[in-house]
Amino acid sequence: MEIHALHHYLCLLPLFCHLLPCYAIESPQYIVLLTAPDVEIRLYNESVWISALVPASNSFQDSTEDGFHRLYQYIHGANANSLRLKKTAPILTSISQAAVNSCNHYVRFYLSRQVGLTPQPNPELNLQVEKWRSHCIAVRKFSGFAKDGNIDKEKLGLVSSLDRLSSSAKSKNSVILEDKSAYAVAQYNASFHLSGRLNEVWMNVSAQGCPLY
Ligand SMILES: *[C@@H]1O[C@H](CO)[C@@H](O)[C@H](O)[C@H]1NC(C)=O
Ligand SMILES: *[C@@H]1O[C@H](CO)[C@@H](O)[C@H](O)[C@H]1NC(C)=O
Ligand SMILES: *[C@@H]1O[C@H](CO)[C@@H](O)[C@H](O)[C@H]1NC(C)=O
Repeated sequence: MEIHALHHYLCLLPLFCHLLPCYAIESPQYIVLLTAPDVEIRLYNESVWISALVPASNSFQDSTEDGFHRLYQYIHGANANSLRLKKTAPILTSISQAAVNSCNHYVRFYLSRQVGLTPQPNPELNLQVEKWRSHCIAVRKFSGFAKDGNIDKEKLGLVSSLDRLSSSAKSKNSVILEDKSAYAVAQYNASFHLSGRLNEVWMNVSAQGCPLY
């Protein structure tokens, strides 16, 4: 029997809202620093993520499924405190080039700030706890399903919006990409929602109002 953990997990998100008074699913906190056509610059607060590395793969979809399968077990109690964690959104898959036609994928689950001390993952899951400092992200939203066939196009769309922004903006508004090849795809919705879906492409940037390290 094949278990599609990501599908299962994302399917549960709206169910939550049908069965219980609708508590919003928690997401990492940010403020919007700048809005321009097809791009938004956000300043995220510090956050804690659990991360599953899927090395050297050429499929975003397979890697996300594989990494999420490990995260799913962690969320459902495969951790030092046997704690079941609250659902959060988005599921974030970061993609960076490893070799020609091969990328490292980091599939990440945001830890609710209510968790307090982060329970350590069971070692066999091979997960890492990551603390992110407050930092800026350029975001492009897109609808439909995030797939192997469209994420690269969306990422290029974000890069060209940032290029346009930089060439039109006064120097004080310039936005600088930290790494032109690394990007992440954030998925927010259950797979049975065929319309009204939200996904985002994220790239790390620096801009006015962003912390300097
Ligand atoms: C940022 O996060 C810290 C804890 O991680 C919290 O104390 C603080 O209130 C948050 N700031 C904002 C603006 O949300
Ligand atoms: C953005 O920065 C974070 C925290 O420094 C890092 O973990 C992540 O991999 C970076 N994401 C991308 C897409 O480069
Ligand atoms: C998808 O997720 C976004 C962000 O949480 C939400 O605003 C939107 O309503 C969701 N769409 C559907 C069809 O549930």
